[in-house]
Amino acid sequence: MSIIYNNTQKTITLHTRHTSYQMKIGNLDYLFHLYYGPSICDADMSYQIKQYDRGFSGNPYESRNARTFSLDAQPQEFSTQQQGDFRTTSIEVVNSDGSYSFNGKTVSFQVKKGKYQLDTLPCVFANDNDTADTLEVILSDAVSNVQVVLLYSVFEEADIITRAVKVINSGEESIHLRKIMSVCLDFLNGKSFDLVSLPGRYGQERQVERQPMTHHIHSIGSVRGSSSHQQNPFAILCDRNATEDYGKCYGFSLMYSGNFLAEAELDQYDQLRFVMGINPKQFYYEVKPQEVFEGPEVIMAFSEHGFTGLSHLYHDFYRSNLCRSKFVKDVKRPVLINSWEAAFMAFDDVKLVEIAKAAKKMGVELLVMDDGWFGKRDDDNSSLGDWYVNENKIRCGLHRLVEQINDLGMKFGIWFEPEMVSEDSDLYRAHPEWTMQIPGRHAVRSRNQMALDMSRKDVQDYLIEKINAILDDANIFYVKWDINRSLADIWSNNLPAEKQGEVYHRYILGLYRVMDGIIKTHPDILFEGCSGGGGRYDPAMLHYYPQYWVSDNNHPIDRLKLHYGTSFVYPISTMGAHISDSGKFVPLQTKAVVAMCGTFGYELDATLLSAKEQDLCREQSERFRKYYSLIFEGDYYRLTNPFEMGNLTAWQHVSKDRTESLLSVVVTNLTCNGPQEYVMAKGLDPDGMYRVNDGDEVYSGAALMHAGIPIEREVSEYTAFQFYLRKVDGIED
Ligand code: GLA
Repeated sequence: MSIIYNNTQKTITLHTRHTSYQMKIGNLDYLFHLYYGPSICDADMSYQIKQYDRGFSGNPYESRNARTFSLDAQPQEFSTQQQGDFRTTSIEVVNSDGSYSFNGKTVSFQVKKGKYQLDTLPCVFANDNDTADTLEVILSDAVSNVQVVLLYSVFEEADIITRAVKVINSGEESIHLRKIMSVCLDFLNGKSFDLVSLPGRYGQERQVERQPMTHHIHSIGSVRGSSSHQQNPFAILCDRNATEDYGKCYGFSLMYSGNFLAEAELDQYDQLRFVMGINPKQFYYEVKPQEVFEGPEVIMAFSEHGFTGLSHLYHDFYRSNLCRSKFVKDVKRPVLINSWEAAFMAFDDVKLVEIAKAAKKMGVELLVMDDGWFGKRDDDNSSLGDWYVNENKIRCGLHRLVEQINDLGMKFGIWFEPEMVSEDSDLYRAHPEWTMQIPGRHAVRSRNQMALDMSRKDVQDYLIEKINAILDDANIFYVKWDINRSLADIWSNNLPAEKQGEVYHRYILGLYRVMDGIIKTHPDILFEGCSGGGGRYDPAMLHYYPQYWVSDNNHPIDRLKLHYGTSFVYPISTMGAHISDSGKFVPLQTKAVVAMCGTFGYELDATLLSAKEQDLCREQSERFRKYYSLIFEGDYYRLTNPFEMGNLTAWQHVSKDRTESLLSVVVTNLTCNGPQEYVMAKGLDPDGMYRVNDGDEVYSGAALMHAGIPIEREVSEYTAFQFYLRKVDGIED
């Protein structure tokens, strides 16, 4: 059992293969946090806690005249509210008498086999061969009768601990939540931590930033109604000297697609509190008597082996415990071509078939019809919501178009933006009350579209029925699910004034219900998520879709940074990557090398390529299929940091058994008469011998890792190299 209670010490310890996490039912039954880090076996970490009389840090009333115990200085599993702890809170509840107070004491706990699930929100799951145990601790406020249930699941082999929270109102009147954090982690010595986050913007998602902890609250979050391009619900707390390969790193990844908040506060005593959960902005959620409110799950990982160690933990876990789609493990995903950058909205059925025919010659297996096929959509000012074929464009009808593509031996995919509606649409004309719009005010314009009120059950049912009907009508293999604006005008026609503070969260709950209703009904369809590129790239979305469009920015040199940042937490197999016309001076071959760090596909007008280019693309598609398992299932290494000034960007995939590896390099900066550059491989067997690109060169793993591969310098701009390393171990073919 990975969860151990020690009755004498009153400690509960969670053990994974390499880590331990300890808490203690301490003074006055408050739940103390004692430790998270490398394994400590059965050590009692209570000795770490020192209590002093601290001026201006109040003491609980029950402490009587003893002044040494203060919640203001005490590491806790879930901090209280208005009990003398002035750091950022885990909960802000307004009780039925109007008081803002939660004084949670441990009343019980239980350990269960298996992984907990939440009723309203997506969670990771345990596979049959996983050892997963769950701890449930109940903290109760004796005055308000509000209970907080802390949920922990321990994935022993995977070195992962998940946390979630439930609030139960056992009182007799409604309470309101203003803040509820899913995780609270207090580190005793926090001043040498750095916070790493993934900020960005449209077209430049998940760039990497690192900041040292100073004495204030460092917060990252989104208030855009979605997890957003601008921040990602992921954070790392690491040693100040942590690098790719060395140093302690704690990861926090939130399974939530809406407004989120993560706060890291270095307090007056150099302790660090980290909280993460739903963003409190415009959040005021009623919990009626006997009702339960669930907060989203946080997936925590710890590695002593720097960022790479941490990324590997997340990649492995997310590949096997996050998404149930058969395209994660059992069925290979096809090489696709998408119509967006090929034709934007200027296409018809004939053009699509022409693109498919040309793409077929390039080894492409799936044609995706992107935006522009429905209603009367010729530009982005109309028709969202009218999910029926535009017969002026698809004159033969959807069914026949799909047949024509299938007749070429190719599969067919389609684009939707289910959550959105255009003012100029039949849907809006029929149901203006289904959009989010503040009464008496004009809606904020953004790509000239409005958001449907996903909190409404009638809207959810409509979408489930409408989209399922289209997916049932034709032989559709793939769906791209897009959302192309940040939410504003947060207001639901369907809720009374006092419940408008619930709309942001109810939107997300509604979205998950719609996704469940469509995706579970169509388990054979490959879904790809998208939000103007990677604006909602989060674990909750990856619970539904095995892949997500990284960015609308297809420029291969920008993509090096995009892939680098995204890879800190998300597996390569989730990263949608295409070759397009973007990057005029970048060779087609380099574009392919970059797109192979992802799902690989094309997004260009294939009919305009020369026969020679089509042949080159066919060879690229074949190469991608050859390396598919290595790329999708192998360990990924960031060999250089594209944010640092260097002449090369390099990365590497290594099979789990270290018998194969693909090392990719792009020359990003040509220097006149520059030095000879070497790229150091990682993750190989130092004692193994590796044949390079199936040629005559054979080098030891140790040589390739410690002395590196020399990179040819007399090349043209943006040249890329791929080194396929195959272990020969002295046995020649
Ligand atoms: C978003 C997506 C693009 C494309 C367009 C269509 O921007 O990210 O890939 O689907 O929408 O409008």
